[in-house]
Amino acid sequence: MLEAMIDLRLAPMAAVTNAPFRLVCRECGAGPLTNEEIDARALLQNSARTEELTRFLPEEHPIAMQLLGADPDVLAEAARRLEAAGADAIDLNMGCPVAKIVSKGQGAALMRDPLGAVVVFRTMRKAIAVRFTIKIRGGWDERTVNAVEIARIAEGEGVDAITVHPRTRSQQYTGVAPWENIARVVDAVAIPVVGNGDVRCRADAAAMVAATGCAAVMIGRGALGAPWIFAAGETSRDERARIIRRHCELIEAHLPAATALIQLKRHLAWYARGFPGAAALRESLFALPTPAAVQNTFWESW
Ligand SMILES: Cc1cc2nc3c(=O)[nH]c(=O)nc-3n(C[C@H](O)[C@H](O)[C@H](O)COP(=O)(O)O)c2cc1C
Repeated sequence: MLEAMIDLRLAPMAAVTNAPFRLVCRECGAGPLTNEEIDARALLQNSARTEELTRFLPEEHPIAMQLLGADPDVLAEAARRLEAAGADAIDLNMGCPVAKIVSKGQGAALMRDPLGAVVVFRTMRKAIAVRFTIKIRGGWDERTVNAVEIARIAEGEGVDAITVHPRTRSQQYTGVAPWENIARVVDAVAIPVVGNGDVRCRADAAAMVAATGCAAVMIGRGALGAPWIFAAGETSRDERARIIRRHCELIEAHLPAATALIQLKRHLAWYARGFPGAAALRESLFALPTPAAVQNTFWESW
């Protein structure tokens, strides 16, 4: 019973959670959506590629646009632009662990500088009227697990909700996600906390809510090749086939041709996980030249 009532959300994942995948997850039952990270500076420089990443479909509301950056004024101006473009919320990425991102003071590096974070929160909060949320990690490394400190600062600066992926930056995506870091943030602030990390099925989501008291659960890798994770109850094989077909149609309809071909390959390879001969199928999918050939080969193995 409890499992059916949990607010399950799709986690932002770069080069994965584009409009077609987000919409498929929403149609399966996912709650408020978040775009993949958008480089704030590139957006202000009118990069065509970045512009493409900001596109969403009307059916996706409510949707948050996630920004990556470090300069408060650049972030604030980018947030204003995305609000004007119809975003229902602006989310600040404070969790990206990638070396070339943190070396610029962005992503998880923002957690190392609480005073700098105050200025970023304040400047972004003033810039927009829509909801302002942040996505944080447990901290930078095991010596600086400061999610609670950052969460309290954020709440004081008018941030509306916080998603916690409880690993530290040093842990990247390895080891077990220490859910107790989510529980500590839940206990420390009154604003909603969304828990994230290692949820692979609805039972895991219920366990996370029970263990942490989080208001909603965000699922990343567990949704790859399995958007039906957001659906209540079992999804039949026929229903899964229908969802995959719908996903392929959305990819072809809404992404530029070159991106569409790559996305078909990536997502169909995830859908093929667990098929007999999945590794060989994956390899052949990636070698094919057209969307039709990729889909035919996938369905021959279905
Ligand atoms: C391929 C990939 C791309 C990601 N891109 C983003 C991103 O753009 N923004 C973000 O906040 N987190 C990003 N993440 C982190 C996820 O949102 C999530 O916090 C993490 O995967 C842990 O959740 P999970 O165990 O459910 O996958 C990414 C993760 C993966 C695997």
